Formats: sequence, structure tokens, C-alpha cells
Amino acid sequence: MDRYAVVGNPIAHSRSPQIHAAFARQTGQALRYEALLAPVDGFARTVADFRAHGGRGLNVTVPFKLEAFALATRRTPRAEMAGAVNTLAFEADAILGDNTDGAGLVRDLEANLGLALAGCRILLLGAGGACRGALLPLLASQPAALTIANRSVDKAAALAALFAPEAGAATLDACGFDALAGRRFDLVINATSASLAGALPPLPPGLYAEGALAYDMMYGRGDTPFMAAARADGAARVADGLGMLVEQAAESFTLWRDVRPDTAPVLAELRRQIDGS
Ligand code: ATR
Repeated sequence: MDRYAVVGNPIAHSRSPQIHAAFARQTGQALRYEALLAPVDGFARTVADFRAHGGRGLNVTVPFKLEAFALATRRTPRAEMAGAVNTLAFEADAILGDNTDGAGLVRDLEANLGLALAGCRILLLGAGGACRGALLPLLASQPAALTIANRSVDKAAALAALFAPEAGAATLDACGFDALAGRRFDLVINATSASLAGALPPLPPGLYAEGALAYDMMYGRGDTPFMAAARADGAARVADGLGMLVEQAAESFTLWRDVRPDTAPVLAELRRQIDGS
């Protein structure tokens, strides 16, 4: 049976095995999908061993996405621009590296949440790996404007410069949080890791335009702190990143198996489990 896995450190709490098992059942694909713990200094060794034992592909998570980028012998344009790889596919004489995170985000926004990104004014909070991975797919969906705001303004400015050639007709700019005062957005995406430390990006009030959506790449039971703060600031709708998790998995599954799974029942089941936990 074809073998796949998610590799990371830590990995025990990954939901990817459950998601891919559901996709495989639903599409009738015969495959096995495991969770693989790699030592922090043993990523390449772990990947080589998995491949030697029948591995066909891997999802890659913290802290190995940059190492996976380096390991790939061929990369998709979206992986090149993301500067990180979350999906590896083993071919006869090559290792293909892809990044499905940003496409997963866009699909969650458009297909699951019904938001038309074309013409949108988007605010992206953060300038780390999560933000960079989202930029190409977001710009490809033709927003009117995309602002990158970050605590360290220089990092946001560097990303805006890097992606300027991909902006098309969109206005792409960068700033710090203070400079957002008085501006309005249709979509605000939290791609900072602030909530891991129990913090929130210090945002000025009044950011949400009428009907705006606040989206947190983090997920959990009920509202995340970012979602709660967004509601209090007048966001019409809020969403967490569970849909992005399922959609990036579906993108990887489609790359490996050439069959697109139906994400809706898988997302609904995960939501039920998280809400009931
Ligand atoms: P990831 O891969 O999750 O994006 P990262 O590359 O470490 O992780 O980036 C973390 C992002 O969260 C950065 O944009 C960081 O801001 P700085 O570049 O200024 O460090 C942001 N971040 C982390 N903690 C934050 C906090 N308490 N308030 C605001 N932003 C924060």
C-alpha cells in the first residue's frame, strides 16, 4: 500500500492522519498515512528512510518547512515564493516540493466562507512564514489592495518588496500596527504567532468595514482571542483556521493522488470533535 505521512517535531497532536484517512476512505484510494516524529537534527535522515520504505509523499510541519524546501530537487512556483515547503512528493528521480498552505487559505475563504477576494481590501497581520506562504495565492485572487502590517515594520516592508512583482493591479503596502489607525478593511487575517504566547497584535480600533470578515489562522474550541477582539471591534463575521487546515490537506492529497476529496464532511466532523472536546 502507498505510504504517506506528516513529519514534524512535535507531531503527536497532528490532525493530518485523521484528515487524510477520511479523504482516502471517501475517494476509495488505497493508502496509509502516518504521523512521523523526526529528531530536530534528523529531518533529512527521517525522510530518506521513509522514502526507502515505500513512502510516496510527506506533509511537513514545524520546524522542518525550510529544510523541506532545501531538500526538494524541484519546486512549484508557489513553494518558491513561500520560501518554505509543506508537501513533498517522491518521484522516480526527483523530490517535488510544494506549498499548499496559501491555496488552502484562499479555498477556505472563497469556497467555504463564500468571500469573493477579487476587489477586496485585505489586511494581513504578521510577516513570518505563515504570512509569506499566504501572499502569492492571495494576490493571485486579485484583491483591490493588500496591506502587510507587522510589529517589526522592516520585515513587512521586505515582504512587500519581494512580492511587488506579483501584485498585478493590487495596491501592496506595508506598515506597523499604529499606522493602521483610520483605515478600513474587508478582510483581516491574523497570521502572527502572538496567540501562542497569549498575546494579540496591538491593533487600533475601527479596522472593520461593513460586512468585514476577521480570519484567524489559529483554531480551537469557540472563538480564539483574535476572533473575540475582532467581534468587539465590529467585525461582521469571524472564522478560525480549521478550514485552512483541511483545505491545505486536500491540496496535498490532490497533488499526490490526482483526485480532489470533498472537504465539507471532513471539516464538519473535525469541528464537531473540537467543539465537543
Ligand atoms: P510563523 O511561521 O508562524 O509565521 P514566525 O516566522 O516566527 O512564525 O513569525 C511570527 C510572526 O508573528 C511575526 O510576524 C511576529 O512579529 P515580528 O516579526 O515583529 O517578530 C509575529 N508576532 C509574534 N508575537 C507577536 C506579538 N506578541 N504581537 C505581535 N506580533 C507578534
